[in-house]
Amino acid sequence: MLAEVLAALEPKPGGSYADGTLGGAGHAAAILAASSPDGWLFASDRDGVAIEAARERLAEFAGRFELRHANYDQFAEWIPAGRCDGVLLDLGVSSPQLDRAERGFSFQQDGPLDMRMDARQALTAAELVNSASADELAKIFRDYGDEPDARRVAVTVVPPRLP
Ligand SMILES: C[S@@+](CC[C@H](N)C(=O)[O-])C[C@H]1O[C@@H](n2cnc3c(N)ncnc32)[C@H](O)[C@@H]1O
Repeated sequence: MLAEVLAALEPKPGGSYADGTLGGAGHAAAILAASSPDGWLFASDRDGVAIEAARERLAEFAGRFELRHANYDQFAEWIPAGRCDGVLLDLGVSSPQLDRAERGFSFQQDGPLDMRMDARQALTAAELVNSASADELAKIFRDYGDEPDARRVAVTVVPPRLP
């Protein structure tokens, strides 16, 4: 998707761009390289681990970006109005999140059912499935997972109480 992102954003020297889902910073590095020597990048991610890894990966572009451990829905709070020529949102989970069993996103490795993108949040997926009702889970699976059989999955997790 890198070629499509660069074609859409057309990063240029002097331009200013925002990456709301920084992840492994592959797109961010390409935007900074394409806008050298003075293009600017605002970037955020909900995952603090991703932010710290990205800071190292982007070291060669130091002085040309600002990173925030934040949801992209907070962009308007910290990116000055009129200072952004294009925004990238590459939604989903990142490879490091899937690869680290302890994050709880992996289908292939055993790990705790955590699934928090932002470890500052208190609620883990394990706590949610063990406290939510079948109705609440069905709504979550339907609305956020596009699961057509949401109700059946939910009652498998939370069996109806016997009278
Ligand atoms: C597919 S990865 C992005 C990969 C990135 N474009 C790259 O070049 O490596 C998606 C990232 O979005 C982050 N994310 C998901 N929802 C978010 C949100 N609402 N606000 C900020 N970051 C979010 C995840 O933590 C993950 O790191």
